[in-house]
Amino acid sequence: MLRIVNLSVEVEGKRILHNVNLYIKKGETFALFGPNGSGKSTLLNAILGNPAYKVVGGRIIFKKVDITNMPSDQRVKLGLGMSFQNPPKINGVKLIDILRHCAKLSGLGEERIMELAEKLRMKEHLNRSINVGFSGGEVKRSEILQLLLMNPDFVLLDEPDSGVDLENIAIVGSAIRDLLERDKEEREKGGLIITHQGHILDYVTADYGVILYKGRVACVGDPKDIISQIRKNGYEGCIARCLKDME
Ligand SMILES: Nc1ncnc2c1ncn2[C@@H]1O[C@H](COP(=O)(O)OP(=O)(O)O)[C@@H](O)[C@H]1O
Ligand SMILES: [Mg+2]
Repeated sequence: MLRIVNLSVEVEGKRILHNVNLYIKKGETFALFGPNGSGKSTLLNAILGNPAYKVVGGRIIFKKVDITNMPSDQRVKLGLGMSFQNPPKINGVKLIDILRHCAKLSGLGEERIMELAEKLRMKEHLNRSINVGFSGGEVKRSEILQLLLMNPDFVLLDEPDSGVDLENIAIVGSAIRDLLERDKEEREKGGLIITHQGHILDYVTADYGVILYKGRVACVGDPKDIISQIRKNGYEGCIARCLKDME
């Protein structure tokens, strides 16, 4: 479904990603780990086509289409969706307005908007300016709500669990599980989830874990093994072990 081939990306003239390769099949979810500044958000922004992130080498293939140079709106129409680590606050644009746009993309109606807003406990926020004065948990719930309405085939999630308390993580986690069809046996949807502590993986299973380190893929394996290795031996210990396993 998503094939990243030898991808190199620059931000403001600085090379951040170096020859990244990833191959994610239909129905698979990957967890992406890595220390701060390793390039995780850069990778997601490059996949979505944020123009601030310049692809200087390699290709991004989504559903067999080369999207490397495609504008973001076309990538979204093709079925990509993303929730941001720090989405903007927009004074004067109500959450409900954005939600109606999202629902239009997937052909969903007003009834479904209300049903999902209820599920994500965002009904009381519908007429507020988006993200203005929202708590950390509310921002994440709003991001996932927008995605549920857009109903993308492949979802990029940038730290959906950071700054989120236990109650919120249960709500967000269950919504992401729906979004990625994790409870279905035959899945059409795929995803790439950035997580620092791996908390979201208590609610959403992932098929593979990947560590990004200094802009390179340093480790691929079972996500639960990777988390326990990181907790025990740190990123470097985990990577050293990965390299040894590959020998
Ligand atoms: N818009 C930007 N302008 C300048 N530098 C950036 C920008 N986005 C990311 N970077 C730099 O790229 C590197 C990787 O950042 P990022 O992808 O956000 O890492 P991560 O998400 O793994 O913490 C960092 O050194 C960061 O400062
Ligand atoms: Mg980041």
